[in-house]
Amino acid sequence: MAKLNPIDMAKYVSARRALDYVEDGMRIGLGTGSTAAWMVRCLGDMVREDGLRVTGVPTSSRTAELAREVGVPIATLEDVKWLDLTIDGADEFDDDLALIKGGGGALLQEKIVATASDMMVVITDPGKKVDTLGAFPLPVEVIPFGWQTTKALIEESLVGMDVGGRSTTLRLNRDAPFRTDEGNLILDLHLRRIGNPRQLSLLLNQIPGVVENGLFLDICDVVVVGAADGSVELRDVNNGTVRQERVDLEAEDNLFTDVTD
Ligand code: 5RP
Repeated sequence: MAKLNPIDMAKYVSARRALDYVEDGMRIGLGTGSTAAWMVRCLGDMVREDGLRVTGVPTSSRTAELAREVGVPIATLEDVKWLDLTIDGADEFDDDLALIKGGGGALLQEKIVATASDMMVVITDPGKKVDTLGAFPLPVEVIPFGWQTTKALIEESLVGMDVGGRSTTLRLNRDAPFRTDEGNLILDLHLRRIGNPRQLSLLLNQIPGVVENGLFLDICDVVVVGAADGSVELRDVNNGTVRQERVDLEAEDNLFTDVTD
């Protein structure tokens, strides 16, 4: 069987490096998405093969299913209440480690879990670094009741905002509206540029019908940017450092292309 393609290899590399933050006995928030899925698989290996004892709190039903499959013990946030660490992916990040998340539709649980954690480590690839957030459409979770009114209110509110575009679309799953794990809908805001993420986040969350938005501000501590050749960049917002490292891929002869999210 062939080795991983370069995109999956970069995700794998960032996931592997992020797991260095894990210590025995930790309660860990498990993110959602294709990069986070690599982290859950590697964590499963560490539990099964090295006897690591951790409790994972999944941020979606998809992640919960994968964690069960690979042998990571899981609990709910209600059970554990507070977490040592969350490792999750992101759709965009900037120099301040402000993020856009929710491309996979799990932003609500992801934000609750990350906020309940002492530390959030984000695992990404170089394509997700931006100077200004907003090229990736900003996901906003809204309740189904009156969603069209909520959409209109959001569009109206954007008029006074420092953004580069104002169109919004209802996220679909094939022909039907996409539903989150909570049964809500996602509106994607095509803003192109978000001049003031903090102001926008506050404004969006004041609109009736909005449950949460995909801006993660002052939540992420470290971003791990992996590359297919094993190199990683570690951006630590608390220390203000950017460090280059390598993940040793020598012994990795067990990585195949037939693994999906
Ligand atoms: C899910 C998310 C994901 O972390 C984000 O979409 C990145 O996913 P991927 O690792 O597949 O690129 O926010 O809601």
